Amino acid sequence: MANKLKKIPNHIAIIMDGNGRWATKRGLPRNLGHKAGVKAVEKTIDACLKFGIKYCTFFAFSTENWKRSKEEVDGIFALLRDYISKNDNIFLKKKVRLSSIGLLDPFPDDLKSALENMKRKTQDFDNLTITFALNYGGRDDIVRAVNSLIKAGETEVTEEKLSASLDTKMLPDPDFIIRTSGEKRVSNFLLYQMAYSEFYFPKLYWPDFDEKQLLKALKVFQKRKRRYGGLN
Ligand code: FPP
Repeated sequence: MANKLKKIPNHIAIIMDGNGRWATKRGLPRNLGHKAGVKAVEKTIDACLKFGIKYCTFFAFSTENWKRSKEEVDGIFALLRDYISKNDNIFLKKKVRLSSIGLLDPFPDDLKSALENMKRKTQDFDNLTITFALNYGGRDDIVRAVNSLIKAGETEVTEEKLSASLDTKMLPDPDFIIRTSGEKRVSNFLLYQMAYSEFYFPKLYWPDFDEKQLLKALKVFQKRKRRYGGLN
């Protein structure tokens, strides 16, 4: 069915909201919501491969998420580490490249090394690039980029120089941003990069997202007329 779609976004970026509410609704602890969220990530990656989407970026941990309880934060780190280690063969088999944006310094060593290992092993694949935004904030990304230009001796910033200094320098701008749970907020995600992105806010919680939901989203994307500030 998806091969009948004319416009497949090259890059989708997802704010996976509603894990906590999904769990609470079922009388479960929040971390079981994040665990179910990982399953939805797996389903989405397979659906991206099926639909021919080349880049998919997941907002997995924001610069603001450190405000959550240590238990919840540690739980998310453990899920990420296990997910990356467990998928060693799967990424290689499916030729999926793993990348990340955000400053990794504050993460536990086991998570950092699992991530760096997998990035290295998959760096030459181009079937699909999966990016996890980790300790990522759009403002932080811009500020770090400007500071790196100043450090390099630049005295004037251009859009080209700034884009080439952002964490996303290896990624095209997102065409389509999906935020689940019905909240209509950007929450400091890819602020500079989303200048011409299309947005979609399905009401369901992230753990309920799957191939069928992605297809539904892609059908919405078909109807969008992107003008980039020009005329049709
Ligand atoms: C937002 O829901 C979700 C997060 C802040 C964490 C998302 C993390 C994962 C799905 C696990 C990471 C693992 C991989 C493999 C990417 P919320 O907790 O804000 O939900 P709520 O608004 O209902 O409380």
